[in-house]
Amino acid sequence: MKISLNTDAKSYTSQELVILAAYSVEGKSKLKTKVAELSTKNKELRDAFHEVKALRHFKGERSENGTFTHNGTQFLVMGLGNKKDVTIEHLRRVIAEAYKLAANKVESFSIDLDSFRVKSPEQSVAAIVESLGMTSYVFDKHHSASKKPKLKHIHLDTTAKKVEGKKLNAQIEASMKLVDSITIARDFVNEPPNILNSEVYAKLVETDAKKIPNVKTKVLNKAQMKKEKMDLFLSVNNGSAYEARLVHLTYTPKKVTSKTKHICLVGKGLTFDTGGYSLKPSDSMVNMKFDMAGSATVYGAFRAAALLGADVKITCILGITDNAINSFATTPDSVVKARNGKTVEILNTDAEGRLVLADCLDYASDLKPDAIIDAATLTGACLVALGHEVCALLGNDDKLANNLLKSAQDTNEYMWRLPIIEEFSTDIKSLNADLKNMGSNRFGGTAKAAAFLQEFVQKDIAWAHLDIAGIGDSQGHLPYCPPKGASGLVIRTLVNFLMRQ
Ligand code: BES
Ligand code: ZN
Ligand code: ZN
Repeated sequence: MKISLNTDAKSYTSQELVILAAYSVEGKSKLKTKVAELSTKNKELRDAFHEVKALRHFKGERSENGTFTHNGTQFLVMGLGNKKDVTIEHLRRVIAEAYKLAANKVESFSIDLDSFRVKSPEQSVAAIVESLGMTSYVFDKHHSASKKPKLKHIHLDTTAKKVEGKKLNAQIEASMKLVDSITIARDFVNEPPNILNSEVYAKLVETDAKKIPNVKTKVLNKAQMKKEKMDLFLSVNNGSAYEARLVHLTYTPKKVTSKTKHICLVGKGLTFDTGGYSLKPSDSMVNMKFDMAGSATVYGAFRAAALLGADVKITCILGITDNAINSFATTPDSVVKARNGKTVEILNTDAEGRLVLADCLDYASDLKPDAIIDAATLTGACLVALGHEVCALLGNDDKLANNLLKSAQDTNEYMWRLPIIEEFSTDIKSLNADLKNMGSNRFGGTAKAAAFLQEFVQKDIAWAHLDIAGIGDSQGHLPYCPPKGASGLVIRTLVNFLMRQ
C-alpha cells in the first residue's frame, strides 16, 4: 500500500472513493438539534450531501458514517463530533474506521486532508499516517491465500501549497519509519515459535539492525554469556533445544557532546514460555509465543528512533531464549548465582522472565547509562490489575517515570504507575538464598516482580520497568490494532520519549 501527498489539489486524485469529515454543529431549527456539516469549501459537494435522504439523520457524531455519490465518485463521510472537542486520538480512530470501511471496496481512495485537520497540519498528517499504517497491518504469511485487501494506493489530497507540502512529506516519511518499525515488531511477535526460535530471532534482528545507519550490532552466544557469568539467564535456557542469545545494539547519534544522554533499553525475549517444570496449564500456554513482545517492543522503538536520527545514544539489549523442558531443565528449588553475585532460589520456573532480565539489567548497568528502561510480558497479575488496555510502569526514579507518563500521554497510550514498596522487596527474600523468584503469595504480582528486578539495577541508575503482558496482546478494542495478535502499542510512547532527550 502506497501513501502519497498531493498539494495544490483542485480536485480529488482518486475517482473511486473520497473520505471526508463531517462535524456536528447546532442546527438552525428552534430546537437547535445537532446536524452534520460536511467539512469542505466545495458548495456543490455540500449541497449534494444535504440532498441525500438517507443521511437526513446523520448528525456528524464520532460513531457515525455515511456515503453518497457525486459525479460518479463515492464519498465516505466520517463523523468527528463537535469540532472544538476533536483530539488527535479521535482522528486516529476515525481514520482507522474509515480505512476498514474502504479497503476492500476500492483500489485507491483519497483523503481530504483539509477536512480532517485537527491541531497543526503536521500533527494531523502524523496521526493519519500512523493510523493507516497500523490499521492496514495483516499477518498472512502462513495462509496459502493472501489476506491483503484490494486497496493499493491512498492519496492525501490538500489545497496546501507546494512549500507547505515539503513539511508534510517529511512528516509522512518520518511517520512511515515509525509505522514500519511497529510492523516489524508485530511480525516478530506473531511469528510462530517453531519458526522463530532464539537463534533465528537473534539473527533476524541482527540482519535488520545492520541496515540502520549509525548502529553497531553484537550478539552473544551461550559460551559468551557463560563467560559473562549470566548463569541466572542461562538457567532458563537449560531445557531448550536452542541456544540463548543476547542481542546488544548501539545507536550513536551523528553529533555527540558531553550533554548527549545515553538510554539503555532492555527487552524480555522468550520465544516461547511453557512454564518449564512449573508447567503452564494448556489453556494458559496457548499464545506464549507472545512472550517475546517486550524485546520486539524495545527493538521497534530503538529502530524507529535510530532511523529518525534521535539526539541520544541508545543501547538495546534483548535477552532471548525459550523456556522449555528436557532432562537438563532447571527444577524448582534450584539455587542459581546471578551475574551480580546475588543468589536466587527458583521456586517457580514459570517466573522465568525476571531471571533473564536480572542478568540483562546488570549487564546494562555496567554500561553506565543515564537510564535503563525495560519492557516485558512479565506477569499475569498485570492483566488482573490493568487489563489489556493499560501498560504498567514501575521503577526507582520519579523523574524518569513522569517523563515516560508524559510520552504516553503525548501519544495517547495508556500507562499507569504501580509502587515498589519496601514490603514487596522484603517479600522476595529467601530462606535458602539471597532472593526467591516469586512472592510468598500471588497478590501484587506485578510489583513484586519489579521489586525482584530492582535488585539487579546497579546503584544510582534511573530505571523504569514496563509490564506489557496485557497491553502487548491486542484484543481488538482499538480500531488501529488487529482483533488478535501483537498490538504494537508502547512503541510510540518509547519513540516519543527517546526523541525528547
Ligand atoms: N510470561 C508469563 C506472564 C504472562 C502471563 C504474560 C499471561 C502474558 C499473559 C510469565 O513468565 C509468567 O508465567 N509469570 C508468572 C509468575 C508467577 C509464577 C510468579 C505468572 O504471572 O503467573
Ligand atoms: Zn513464565
Ligand atoms: Zn514468561
